[in-house]
Amino acid sequence: MSDTLLFGVLPYVAMGIFLIVTIQRYRQRTFTYSSLSSQFLENKKHFWGSVPFHYGVLFVLFLHLAGLFIPDAILAWNAEPTRLFVTEATGLAMAVITLVGLANIVLRRLQVRKARTVTTLSDWVIYGLLAVQVITGIGVAVFHGWGSSWFATSLTPWLWSLVKLDPQLGYVAALPWMVKLHIVNAWLVIGFFPFTRLVHVLVVPNPYLWRRTQVVVWNYDRKKARSAD
Ligand code: HEM
Repeated sequence: MSDTLLFGVLPYVAMGIFLIVTIQRYRQRTFTYSSLSSQFLENKKHFWGSVPFHYGVLFVLFLHLAGLFIPDAILAWNAEPTRLFVTEATGLAMAVITLVGLANIVLRRLQVRKARTVTTLSDWVIYGLLAVQVITGIGVAVFHGWGSSWFATSLTPWLWSLVKLDPQLGYVAALPWMVKLHIVNAWLVIGFFPFTRLVHVLVVPNPYLWRRTQVVVWNYDRKKARSAD
């Protein structure tokens, strides 16, 4: 019963909320579609949070998407033990880097008064959900190894069965509780996503990569302004 709710119903509820609210927010509150960066308020601690977090999370997300879209290629790659080990070790290392970044992001928002002032309840909720996601991900990698292979054989067919509107719960029913928690929390992240600053992921300003550079000229003493915390 709970498996049906968590793995057969929750994914649709989360995706439904995700689709409806991201579109509604984009249409009605377009100017809130942003990471609402606080980098100008404080830059040093920001660097040690945001940079490792983004490198880590993008790499780990890329691995998950590879498992979803090219499972056969992943299995063929993993067929050679050295390559399997390299994939697993790299994924785990990037997850740890993500966690270090996230911890620094949260600490900064607690310690730097200006950053704390612009932090909302939805920020705290999404930081909590992301923390659970990354910590359980590391737990899965450590205690239930070779996930890059069993993802392709257990989770990929289940995810595609959801897409085909014919959830095959047999693929996930016997998985260890830590893996189940990692999956359920991922749907909670997806469902809560449109209410948070994470919407910036959907509006990445790609043209920044090729547009002409801009020169920013400060007309006040940056050190002085920032030393006020
Ligand atoms: C290509 C993809 C991405 C780009 C270009 C990008 C860019 C940015 C930028 C410019 C900021 C504002 C600066 C800052 O405060 O760090 C930011 C903040 C943030 N991003 Fe991303 N991001 C991307 C993907 C992601 C993903 C996949 C996640 C999480 C799943 C994420 C989570 C966050 C969070 C939580 C913040 C706020 C950090 C804080 O509290 O200061 N981003 N991102």
